[in-house]
Amino acid sequence: MSFYKFPNDFWWGSASSAAQSEGASLAEGKAPTIWDHWFEQQPWRFFDGVGPADTSTFYQNYKSDIQLMKQLGHNSFRTSISWARLIPDGVGAVNPKAVEFYTNMIQELKNAGIEPFICLFHFDMPLVMQEKGGWENREVVDAYVEYTKTCFDLFGKDVRYWFTFNEPIVPVEQGYLYDAHYPNVVDFKRAVQVAYHTMLAHAKAVSAYHHSHEHGQIGIVLNLTPSYPRSSHPSDEKAARMADLLFNRSFLDPAVLGQYPQELVQLMADYNVAPKTEPGDSELLRLGKVDMLGVNYYQPRRVKARLNAINPDGPMLPEWFFEPYEMPVRKMNRYRGWEIYEKGVYDILLNLKENYGNIPCYISENGMGVEDEQRFIVNGQVQDDYRIEFIRNHLIWVNKAMTEGANCRGYHLWTFIDCWSWANAYKNRYGFVALDLKTQQRTIKKSGNWIAQVARDNGFDSGDN
Ligand code: FCB
Repeated sequence: MSFYKFPNDFWWGSASSAAQSEGASLAEGKAPTIWDHWFEQQPWRFFDGVGPADTSTFYQNYKSDIQLMKQLGHNSFRTSISWARLIPDGVGAVNPKAVEFYTNMIQELKNAGIEPFICLFHFDMPLVMQEKGGWENREVVDAYVEYTKTCFDLFGKDVRYWFTFNEPIVPVEQGYLYDAHYPNVVDFKRAVQVAYHTMLAHAKAVSAYHHSHEHGQIGIVLNLTPSYPRSSHPSDEKAARMADLLFNRSFLDPAVLGQYPQELVQLMADYNVAPKTEPGDSELLRLGKVDMLGVNYYQPRRVKARLNAINPDGPMLPEWFFEPYEMPVRKMNRYRGWEIYEKGVYDILLNLKENYGNIPCYISENGMGVEDEQRFIVNGQVQDDYRIEFIRNHLIWVNKAMTEGANCRGYHLWTFIDCWSWANAYKNRYGFVALDLKTQQRTIKKSGNWIAQVARDNGFDSGDN
């Protein structure tokens, strides 16, 4: 029996975010985000009509939750700061209650021996900023940079790992292309502007941090979805390259290499959707290179060459350049509708090694959302053997990539405790810890016990399940 060994300082933990876990959504001085607003306008777009006020009450229960993390063997945990809580007007005065909450929460993590990884923006645009045009408006970029500097000043002495954004492509595609997040715009050119300004905001925050707080590191969390062509036919391979360019390299290249891929710049020019820029932007982007990268990986993207013509009157979409391909036989997480392809994580890590200078990175999210987990309860505990198998199989590929030289420093599950998942609300459960929505009672799942053992041993053997 072989043993999958991870380094002694490997980061074991999980990730969460402010909007999805804090609760106290419109309390304690917090101003509304686009989520509070959208829920007020269109509550039917949220699963079972559950909105952002009903999250897992981390604001009240962070102390006992952090003790639970300790029981799970966490040595690190990522969450985010809510801009709308910290600076309710978007710019200007800070909310003292928020300063107190984040200071205490970070301190509590440190006291428990858990390294805080703090993300500065996780899909939760303050409504006041969206009313100014959100990321379409360059003023919002500057407001964000001021907000990040405030965070560095307030919490910088205790936080060594910062992240400017979580999955910055998600607000772009869901909010400006696919009508799945507020502001429900469908417009490629505006989407490009949003993407571009997000990366400028990122780059300016990175430089601000590098100027002021040398002792820590700053990165970004990207959801990388490796693109696989249906076949080796050149047209299928081209489709995969286009999907990779649009969905991965559009953020990965500026974040790690400090510049956009030339093919992407050309493509945007050819289709007349290039963003508005200002002199000096290229230099700003160059200064925005990250110290390390968080990789969120859930599923692969399989594509084929387009077989159907594009409606010339329809909106421009990334799918103009490829068609999604459903491989006939595949492993599925049927609850979420996502394919499970564990080797994808290895392919990502090797790509980072070979083409991105082997930048220090870690798996910042990976996980499995499952509906109706109560049906797996035996003697009061969710027996989530499927989740254990999911994590284990991904870790085996992470381990293989590391033995081949990939610079991967850790693995965080999405998520610590079942949480509110945007428009899906509580439909799918992802946590190591189950949450009873009515009583807010927390119970560790079988996967939670399992990961505690793995973290203690820094690995697992091949027969262990
Ligand atoms: C990721 C997000 C996270 C969570 C998981 C399920 O895309 O980063 O907030 O919703 O999906």
